[in-house]
Formats: sequence, structure tokens, C-alpha cells
Amino acid sequence: MGLQCRHLLGLEHISVADILKILATARPMKDIIKRQIKKVPTLRGRVVTTVFYENSTRTKMSFDLAAKYLSADVVGLSAIGSSIQKGESLADTARTVAAMGADVLVLRHPASGAAALLADLVPCAVINAGDGRHEHPTQALLDLFTIKDHKGSFEGLKVAIIGDILHSRVARSNIWGLTKLGVEVRVAAPATLLPPELSRLGVKVYTKVEEALAGVDVINVLRLQLERQKQSLLPTLREYAVLYGVNKERLALAKEDALLMHPGPMNRGIEITAEVADGDQAVITEQVTNGVAIRMALLYLLTGGEIVETIN
Ligand code: NCD
Repeated sequence: MGLQCRHLLGLEHISVADILKILATARPMKDIIKRQIKKVPTLRGRVVTTVFYENSTRTKMSFDLAAKYLSADVVGLSAIGSSIQKGESLADTARTVAAMGADVLVLRHPASGAAALLADLVPCAVINAGDGRHEHPTQALLDLFTIKDHKGSFEGLKVAIIGDILHSRVARSNIWGLTKLGVEVRVAAPATLLPPELSRLGVKVYTKVEEALAGVDVINVLRLQLERQKQSLLPTLREYAVLYGVNKERLALAKEDALLMHPGPMNRGIEITAEVADGDQAVITEQVTNGVAIRMALLYLLTGGEIVETIN
């Protein structure tokens, strides 16, 4: 059996079995990335399309490379330069892409629920590459993979997510994934950046970053999403950096071997200091590599692939 789900829309409704299958399949995929010849014929003849209505560096490039490493054909559409600018609707754009023979449609869109909307409209598999503030499941899966890679298992782990929780789809997907796997999740932010629904997500909420960091195994620092802040939720960036920025002193409150993660792009000097971002505990560039492996696993599993130990 491949995955129970036909699309990857979020981690809220995915089974633990599917999460574990994706993580297990990403392992042999990571081995391919490390080879000198990074190409296997597994998805030859398959078509992956990326439709991005928002900017992206890591997510877009890693889907492109994941498809290429597996020998799929990959075609990208961005809002700039396409008929999206002529006013074509999301549904019509997706139907057009599917009609050209796409097996997988990867969508990034500013509206929460955009990927779910397409899942009912098109015959191909839909992968949510970020929908508004809602979910960013492939980011959370690569974060889970990175944690498992270093810690061996999820048992007994404590993870602190620090920063702009309100606007963060990365936080929401991480919370769903980590809590499903039994991890203790703490979130810390100024009260204005803490959404009210957190209380029903089973996380511990802090406004003092030091308390959230005490004794954790993993720190996931989020970017302050300045482009999504409609009203002024913070007095000044300087004050945010002083009160919530993860620096050397704050990092030292976590376990000695704690991992320091950030989904990127980073605002160095705001949510994280350069010293910490470039320090020994940071696994930020590993996250990027793991993102390609996770996306290879998803493309493979959602086009009907079976879980394997090695891929040739
Ligand atoms: C994130 C996103 O777009 O949600 N970036 C990413 O995909 N690595 C986080 C962010 O933009 O802060």
C-alpha cells in the first residue's frame, strides 16, 4: 500500500501511519541526493507541476529538484507572467494544468484552504506548498525528518516553537505533526502574535521565551512575517529582537544537545542572531537538504509508489 491519503493538504487530517511512511521513504531519497549522479528513473514519464502564487526559494526549488532527481518532468507556473495576471481564477488555472496531463499539482497560495479546494476539482494529486496562514505540511514533514535524524525517535521530546505563531503555517503544521507523534510542544511569542485557537491544539503557551526554552530538545525559530502583519502587532522590531530573539544566552537554556531549526528565510538580527544561526547546534542547511528528500518521497508515494528501503 502507498499512502492512505490521495493528496497532501495538511498534517491535521493525515494519519500517523502516513507520516511515518513518508519519513521512512525520505531516507533512501536522501541517499540519492548525496550521490554524485543524482538521478534515478523512478518517475520517468510522470509530470509534476508547481503553481506558485507567492514567493518561494526553498520550497519551489526543492520540488523542482525532487522531481528532476526522480526523472519526472516538471513545469512551473508563477503568478507573474501567466494568465493569473489576466484574472484567471485558481480553479480554472488548476483545471488547465491538470488537462495538460499533470500527475501532481503543487500549490502555494495566499488563501487558507486553496489546496483543499483544488483537491475536489482536479484528477491529479495535490500537494499543499503553503496556503495562507493555514498549513505548510511539507515544511513540517522535513522538520520532523530532521528531528528524527538527530534524536532517533520522537519519544519524550520537547520542542519549542518561537516567534510569529499567528501568521505561521509552518507552526500550525508542526503542531499537528508533533502532537500526533506524542511530542510536547511549547510555543512562545508576544501575546499579539499568539492566535486564540492555540488552546485547543494541545500545546503549552508561553509569553516569556526563557520559560519555553528551559530544557527543550529542539528549538524551531520562526520568521517574523512582516508582509502578513496588517496592523501593528509589535512596538518595534528592536524590542522584539531584545525580548524574543534567540541568542546564545537563550539557546543555553535548552538542553546541551538541543537542535536549532529555522524554516528560512531568516531575518538575521531579529528572530535569531547570526552567531546562533551559524553555530554548532544549527541544522538549518540540513533542513534544506531534507526538504528535497521529503518532497521526493511525497512525489513518489502520491504517484503510487510503495515504501522501499532503497531506490535504484
Ligand atoms: C515558510 C513559508 O513560506 O511559510 N518558508 C518556507 O517555506 N521555508 C516560512 C516563512 O516564510 O517564514
